[in-house]
Amino acid sequence: MSFETKREVLNWYERQPRTLTEKFISKINWNEIKNYPLDKRFIPVLLYMRDVETLTDVYYKELRRTPTGKDPIISRFMERWSVEEQTHGELLNRFLNEAGISTDEKWQSQVIGSVSTGYTVTNRLITTLTNLVGKRFTATHMAFGAIHEMSTTQGYRRLVDLAKHPVLSEILRGIIREESAHTTFYRSVARIELQKSEISQKLSRFLIKHFWTPVGSGAKPRHESGYTIATLFSGDEGLSGLTRMFRREFRRCPDLQA
Ligand SMILES: [Fe+2]
Ligand SMILES: [Fe+2]
Repeated sequence: MSFETKREVLNWYERQPRTLTEKFISKINWNEIKNYPLDKRFIPVLLYMRDVETLTDVYYKELRRTPTGKDPIISRFMERWSVEEQTHGELLNRFLNEAGISTDEKWQSQVIGSVSTGYTVTNRLITTLTNLVGKRFTATHMAFGAIHEMSTTQGYRRLVDLAKHPVLSEILRGIIREESAHTTFYRSVARIELQKSEISQKLSRFLIKHFWTPVGSGAKPRHESGYTIATLFSGDEGLSGLTRMFRREFRRCPDLQA
């Protein structure tokens, strides 16, 4: 898929039906979850993923204060995107509950409340800096988003392969379909924005090289990100899958290649 304008990308995204509809969710065999073993080492990973999905709401609110978030096309995408990410968090939480891992009734507000002050201050600072740079920063925002969505998608794929839990796989495949649509949106808009100016390209490359961190790190304690990455991506297969995916996706975004 190659788009000429952001409007075309948005139109494409809006034509995609939601995968995780009420019907899809009601057909998941929730009652069978307990019938299959779940390796304990994946529980912290699932909790991490649940929390990161939920925290997109914090990121969304911050982004709305920037020129990127005020862009009518991007803000329209983000309205639906943030709802979809919340569903992902809710489904992962429900899976954990059905698997016998109880969570607090107010887990969502606890997750948001547990974000460190340091992270909030940094985020505010970035927002202020972003406002100074203005629209030129949009390409970087979109490129960061694309990388986050791609690595999240690959993380879910790895979890399907490693956990081998049939009901979890069914849920994750639904989530992966929505994450793939998010990747297409971010990557396509990043490409369009990057083509607009050489300054944007240089800025994006510099910021990604020096400031990109895995999704959730900063908001979540470092050891939790480390544990999730090590569990999902250690070993040849874990890393080579990630590398293959980035190569494939970035071939469609040549302005980001070093
Ligand atoms: Fe998600
Ligand atoms: Fe996503």
